[in-house]
Amino acid sequence: MEVITWSEDYSVNIREIDSQHKKLVKLINLLHKETDEKDLHKTVGDTLDELIKYAVYHFSFEESLFAQYSYPETRVHIRAHTDLIAQIKNFLNKYNFSGNVFPIDLIDFLQKWLIDHILEEDKKYGAYLNSKGIN
Ligand SMILES: [Fe+2]
Ligand SMILES: [Fe+2]
Repeated sequence: MEVITWSEDYSVNIREIDSQHKKLVKLINLLHKETDEKDLHKTVGDTLDELIKYAVYHFSFEESLFAQYSYPETRVHIRAHTDLIAQIKNFLNKYNFSGNVFPIDLIDFLQKWLIDHILEEDKKYGAYLNSKGIN
């Protein structure tokens, strides 16, 4: 079962960004799937690392667009990105997951965060950049 099913409602109308968001969705779904399987401490760890690295890459990609097009809400948006990375780190420190026990709460948190962030924050810059001819 997928925790997130991509919907066109999540589109920000910028092709490259949608494809990055789809990749994040895919990684969260994969993480969820791996927690249902057995052995997996290693696999889950690898996927989680990949997800965090890809999220960092995606955030800097967005932030470079903001700089390039003087997006007025840049500061608030960057803070949301920075907070997320800090929250994931706190989460991992807190749980310091051991053996095969993986905090399913983290997956819930990530999927809610991603969808809310796309719908509330990313869509705002989507409309702004569309108005600058980016799509
Ligand atoms: Fe995004
Ligand atoms: Fe964002």
